[in-house]
Amino acid sequence: MSDVSMEKLVSLAKRRGFIYPGSEIYGGLAGTWDYGHYGSLLAYNIKDLWWKHFVEERDDNFAMTTPTLMSEAVWQASGHLDGFADPLIECNKCKHRFRGDQLEDKKKCPDCGGKLGEEKAFNLMLPVQLGSVEGKSNTAYLRGELAQGMFVNFKNTLDTLRPKLPFGLAQIGRAYRNEISPRDFLFRVREFDLMEFEYFVKEADWEKYFEMWKKEMWKWIERVGIKKNMVSELEVPEKDRAHYSKRTVDFEFDYPFGTKELYGLAYRTDYDLKKHAKASGLDLTYSDEEGNKFIPHVVEPTFGHGRTILAVMLSAYNEDKERVWLSFKPEVAPIKVAVFPLLRNKPELVEKADEIYKSVKSYIPNTLWDDNGNVGKRYRRQDEIGTPLCITIDFETLEDKAVTVRDRDSMAQQRVKLDELENYLKKKLNG
Ligand code: GAP
Repeated sequence: MSDVSMEKLVSLAKRRGFIYPGSEIYGGLAGTWDYGHYGSLLAYNIKDLWWKHFVEERDDNFAMTTPTLMSEAVWQASGHLDGFADPLIECNKCKHRFRGDQLEDKKKCPDCGGKLGEEKAFNLMLPVQLGSVEGKSNTAYLRGELAQGMFVNFKNTLDTLRPKLPFGLAQIGRAYRNEISPRDFLFRVREFDLMEFEYFVKEADWEKYFEMWKKEMWKWIERVGIKKNMVSELEVPEKDRAHYSKRTVDFEFDYPFGTKELYGLAYRTDYDLKKHAKASGLDLTYSDEEGNKFIPHVVEPTFGHGRTILAVMLSAYNEDKERVWLSFKPEVAPIKVAVFPLLRNKPELVEKADEIYKSVKSYIPNTLWDDNGNVGKRYRRQDEIGTPLCITIDFETLEDKAVTVRDRDSMAQQRVKLDELENYLKKKLNG
């Protein structure tokens, strides 16, 4: 189990400009979080890295971008309007609502002690009314998963890209779920980003590709900086699987509030394409080189973006008597290098530091200038936002044309010649 408390992490996230409660100045809106400067940079870096890892560095995954609003017919066909539900129990007295599967005692309200009502299925899809004339609106839904955007474009993809099996359609984007009880910071929210792809295969090959993606998901976990010893696989029993899945393996993470789902890998069979073919009347078959026509099967790796951020932050969190530091991998760190003039009131020093700052920023874009407080305080601040390297320009720099580079994790300081600085920094950051 993680030895960082959620209180510490949530407080650091707020204090250092990573993440704030959504709509906070009006008392907040449950299940929503706002990302500040460093949180947004971290979030974008993680998405960029995922995109590189699963799309740009491969030949078999293609890009998709589809709207968050989708027709009711999509969700009717996919089974989400009937099957995408959690068990809801409401207290007869205080009217508080709970998820049935999270209650130890399904008779007594944990908040007021009142009698709990009967358990019923509560649909997680969020409907929205489109149209400007009252009474004439159309119901659409904010998507509960990205996958349907890929399935409804399967034919477009075959017609335009003419891909050969196996191939995937990948997307990063928002999803919405009307969670009964959002909780645990970014873990269970009502609006979140997903990074997922549908990998289309021949039915006979599904087990091979399921195993392949399981291995690739472990590689990603390592690359993004999630501690592998805090992750475990769970074979999800049939009764807990989503309505479309014939096999699911969850990657679980040891959060401070328990070992729970981080990612999922599902074998969706030909369930979705068959449902859409039937409901739309379109031919969604694929023709292979031998002229066989069939509906491909699907293996789906799915990655919650918020849960990735949470697991990355929890994996990176360190503290000792002196300091707190986030040991982010350089690729995801919001700021890669911070540049300090030793003193801010010595023009010749500031001028030299500014020249060095501009030069470093030209080859490492996420470089930050910091001249606030003493150098010790600047180090603490950069440690808390996870900046791997800090450069200090002092009076000696003007003489020996060298700077002090300090490493976040070891706190070791090294004098580096200015004409060797670019190579040194790049080597340190790129491993
Ligand atoms: N297309 C498959 C799919 O959506 P899922 O297991 O329902 O599968 C995918 O969700 C991932 O989204 C999960 O593995 C988890 O990381 C994340 N996730 C699910 N519900 C979430 C919520 N309410 N808040 C934050 N992340 C969530």
